[in-house]
Amino acid sequence: MSPRERIADKMEFPPETQQPNVYPLSWESKTKKMEEIWEAAQRENWDPTKLCWDTFDVEKYSWEEREAIAYWWSILSVFDASAPPVFAAALIKTYEAHEEDPVRRCFFSVTRDEQNHEQMCGLAITKLLGSTSYLTHEPKSELGLKAQKNVKWLYYNGARYWEGYKKAVPKYSLAVLFSSFLMGEIAAATIFHQMAAGCKEPVFQEAFRNIGRDEGRHMAICMSLMERDYPHLKDEDKATITKQIRAGYLFLSGVLFEPPEEFWDIPKDFITNQRACDEVARKAGFGIPTYDQKKENWRGAMLNLKGVLDKYGTEFPAIPEVGITGREISDVEMEDIIPVF
Ligand SMILES: [Fe+2]
Ligand SMILES: [Fe+2]
Repeated sequence: MSPRERIADKMEFPPETQQPNVYPLSWESKTKKMEEIWEAAQRENWDPTKLCWDTFDVEKYSWEEREAIAYWWSILSVFDASAPPVFAAALIKTYEAHEEDPVRRCFFSVTRDEQNHEQMCGLAITKLLGSTSYLTHEPKSELGLKAQKNVKWLYYNGARYWEGYKKAVPKYSLAVLFSSFLMGEIAAATIFHQMAAGCKEPVFQEAFRNIGRDEGRHMAICMSLMERDYPHLKDEDKATITKQIRAGYLFLSGVLFEPPEEFWDIPKDFITNQRACDEVARKAGFGIPTYDQKKENWRGAMLNLKGVLDKYGTEFPAIPEVGITGREISDVEMEDIIPVF
């Protein structure tokens, strides 16, 4: 039937709408927890431009310090700047899958939150560098030059992930996607908690507290959906999730720990340069955890996730980098990379 052919004068009721179509035209609400999370999201919404920016005097930092701190924000934005489109795609999927009304709203709130986080990265970087991107910034110190080279490589690698994600979204069920999202959220909640505790600059503290609270809600969204769906998970989905977790570990190590070469295509001096930036930022009162702290925290976050998956009889992958044994996963494909912040 051509879409222009008029049928309304030929029948009393229209034919059945083919399913799934993009909008459900129903507002079912079964998972009470999702309503609570949505209400919290409404209450806790914040505006990055309204933080205590007036207390922030960038001039009190040297150029080296400014460029080192901006480097950290740039690493973060490789993840957070991809989060709005990533969650916008997931939001569309909740409509296509005719998810419950509060689930749709919760994914909308995550998209909005991530936009805030991305905006925050932009505000911090712009103030610190006096330019709108590290990529086009003219480095003012030796360290800044090295940091900029790192940012270019991070950007290149992060962009590879988006192609994988676009292929993954239609391929996997929401239940599978949640495990990756959850991983991103556990990682995010971990890192912002650490940063809030270790930062001396009030405006950054404020931002980290807000972002950490958002990430806690995102985590709760994933957890309640897992509680709802995982008891009925198919075995093939379980195997996919195990692989996803390994892929997520590799990807998120870029911000939580140090980028492993198994996924990250980076030059030899990358890690040295990053450690040098971390060191300078730390001394300037920007509390990036040390190598050992990062490792310990990342391990803790992974064990947390393992605890959740164990509950649903889903095998955990081996993560020898942080001393976790499990199923060996080799050759993680780009299409398997889903995790986000
Ligand atoms: Fe998040
Ligand atoms: Fe985020």
